Formats: sequence, structure tokens, C-alpha cells
Amino acid sequence: MKLIIVAILFACVVACFSEKARYDNYRVYSIEVENEQQFEVLKRFESGLDGISFLETPTGIQQKAEIIVPPHKFADISELFETLKIKNQIKIANLQKVIDQEQPQHLERSGFGWKQYYDLTAIYAWLDELLEQYPNVLTNYNYGTSYENRTLRAIKVSHKKGNPTIFIESTIHAREWVTQATATYFLNELLTSSDAEIRQLADNYDWVFVPVVNVDGYAYTHSNDRMWRKTRQPHTDNCIGADPNRNFDFHHAEVGASTNPCAETYAGPKPLSEPEILALTEFIKTFDNIKLYISFHSYSQLLLFPYGHTRRQAPNHSDMMQIARKTREAIAKRYKTDYTVGPIATTIYLASGSSIDWVYGTQDVKLSFTFEFRDKGRHGFILPADQIIPNSLEIVDGLKAMVEEAKALKYL
Ligand SMILES: *[C@@H]1O[C@H](CO)[C@@H](O)[C@H](O)[C@H]1NC(C)=O
Ligand SMILES: *[C@@H]1O[C@H](CO)[C@@H](O)[C@H](O)[C@H]1NC(C)=O
Ligand SMILES: [Zn+2]
Repeated sequence: MKLIIVAILFACVVACFSEKARYDNYRVYSIEVENEQQFEVLKRFESGLDGISFLETPTGIQQKAEIIVPPHKFADISELFETLKIKNQIKIANLQKVIDQEQPQHLERSGFGWKQYYDLTAIYAWLDELLEQYPNVLTNYNYGTSYENRTLRAIKVSHKKGNPTIFIESTIHAREWVTQATATYFLNELLTSSDAEIRQLADNYDWVFVPVVNVDGYAYTHSNDRMWRKTRQPHTDNCIGADPNRNFDFHHAEVGASTNPCAETYAGPKPLSEPEILALTEFIKTFDNIKLYISFHSYSQLLLFPYGHTRRQAPNHSDMMQIARKTREAIAKRYKTDYTVGPIATTIYLASGSSIDWVYGTQDVKLSFTFEFRDKGRHGFILPADQIIPNSLEIVDGLKAMVEEAKALKYL
């Protein structure tokens, strides 16, 4: 009996504490889905069949997608690509190596900054420090609780009453680490920068930040699997999580979202099935003066706006296009980083139930944008930490231009 317990304990020490997913020699292929036959066959990998899974799940034809392939499937996948004439290119030759090189060699175990990535505990501790340091400018919101009982937090920067509100939502997809880093960088700039343009932004607008929407998923990317995207609420015995950015209550699951609970783009069994999204939407509704809503994602270098659920143009399409173009120019100035701009549906793919469609379509918010940050697939979601500051600098340039153009067009 004793021996069995010892054996179980030992097994648990091995399995329970070292269960971090590894991607040794896994490849990432960029592929093009050009016809229905290719699409139908590729759909089989939607739930991660044989260790093959999508980084970007195709939702129809005429789309690019990225697929992760373990070494023992290289031969099979090559054969499949050849048989179906699927255009493909290896973007990452060894995913684990990219993951291993993401953080700097020397890691700070405490404090906060932008030279490395920090976990949720460190981010929240930093917010607490800011709240002590800037009690007259900052407001803390604990706006709900996640499925795994983590606190959902937001922070508002407000220098005076009556300012229009700009809302920044970040890290709704767990593995997009550079999004929380960029959001916190910009929050810090609003508080500490002496740059005249930043002071102007800080003084004349209220900025609400949700640095990490998908707190459970984000924690999981640190503890268990760097590539996790979804929430952590189980929906079937073997499939966990829904895509939080397909879970909003606007044209839910109509197009460009999956009804398969194992898929990366699973919309959830019903709108707002994810407690993090229900809480976020209730929180957003408490503001009556949001003039601009911004969602931070990575990667692909895109600046997108509504709609995602239809190729029809949104009412304020031409204004959003003009603002997006100005933002794109400003982003490119510093390091020539090239962004593509346009509506979600016609620029990448149809996708329904996203946050920016929901605020635009139901909350009378006239401007909403999604940034997809660096890069274009060389590192993908695993952007090396030494790019946090360059990414943040060019995005702050972009945000300055975005606000300026929105103001010129009388949205702010
Ligand atoms: C969250 O807390 C509630 C109330 O304390 C508890 O019933 C529930 O099991 C917890 N959920 C998880 C996933 O830990
Ligand atoms: C945006 O579109 C709506 C609906 O067409 C229109 O009423 C409004 O004037 C446009 N512009 C602004 C600044 O809201
Ligand atoms: Zn995303």
C-alpha cells in the first residue's frame, strides 16, 4: 500500500510539476487555402489532430493560415501539401528554439519593466504600485472574476472631469504576450512621459486599460503551454476553453468562428458563455462616453476595423479607413514597420462575435480598431522580448496619429 502511494506521488512529481508543453523541432508552416477541397481536408486539423494544429485557423477559401506540425508528421504533411497542391512555406523550423529565445538570458525575478515578459502576478503588483503612486489620477476596477477565480482588473487614467474615454483592451488571446507589454508601456508613458504630445493625450482623454482580459489563459501560457489561446473553462470532457474574441453577443458564431469545442476559434456554446467576456461587456457598459475602442492583438502587422461578420461596409467606413491610413503612416516612420489596414472581413477573414464589432455594433461607439502587432510570422506569437520597446514606441506613434485624426474628423 505504502509503495503504491509513493509510486503515485513520484509519478505526480514528474507529471504534475513538469508538465510544460514542449515544441522541440516542431515546424510552423504558412499555407494558402485556395479551394474548397483544400479547405475541407485542412479542417480535420481544427481540433489538433495528431499533434497538428493551427496557429491561425482558416475559416474559408482564399486565406492564408499557419499550421504547427510535430516532427513525426513532416512526411505526412508534405505528402498532403503535394497531393492537394497547397502552397506552403516553412516559417519556423524549430518552435521550441523560438520559445527558448523569447526571454532575455538574465531574467529579473521581481519588479516590472519592458525588457522581458512578466506574468499576471507581476502585472497586478505593478498596478498596485501605480495606484499608490498616483492616487489622484488613477482609478482601479476589479470588474469581475475569471472561471478559475482570478480577479479581472482595469485601471483608468484621468486628469480631469468630462474627458472623452478611450478604452484599450489587451491580451484577450492568451499567447499574444506582447499585447500586455505594449499596453503597460503606454500606460506608463501616460503617467511619466514629459513628451508634449503624450501629455496632451494624458490630460485630454480618460484612458481605460484592461491589460489582460484572458487572465486564466495568460497564466496558463506561463505555467503550462506557451501556445495557449483560449479561455480555460471546459466545454466538453476533453476540450477546454472558447475563443474569447468570438464570444461577444453580436452575430455570435455566424461566420468565421467554429462550433467545434476543440477548435482554436470555438465561439462558445452561446454568446457570453465565458465569464471573462460577460464581465468585460458589463464593465464596458458602465462607461457612457467611449469615443474610441482599441483591441491589442498579435501578430501580422494589421490595423483592422469593423465589420468582421460581413463584407458590407460599416457606416463610418471611410472615416475609419482615413484614420487607419494616418496611423499606418505614423507607425512606419520610426522603423519602417509595415502595417496593412482595412475592415476585418475583407482584410483577413470573416470573423463574428469579436469585441470591436460588438462595441461598434451595439454600444454606439463610433470608432473601434484592432491592432495586430509585430511580426509577420518569423517569431509569430513569440516575439523576442528585445522587441517589446521598439513595438511599443511605434505603436505609441500610431496612437498619437490615431487620436489626432479622430479629433480632426470630430469623433473626439
Ligand atoms: C471558484 O470559487 C468558487 C467559490 O469559492 C468555487 O466554488 C469554485 O470551485 C472555484 N472555481 C475554481 C475553478 O477553482
Ligand atoms: C458615423 O456614422 C453614422 C451613421 O452613418 C453617422 O450618423 C455619423 O455622423 C458618422 N460620423 C460620426 C462622426 O459619428
Ligand atoms: Zn488575437
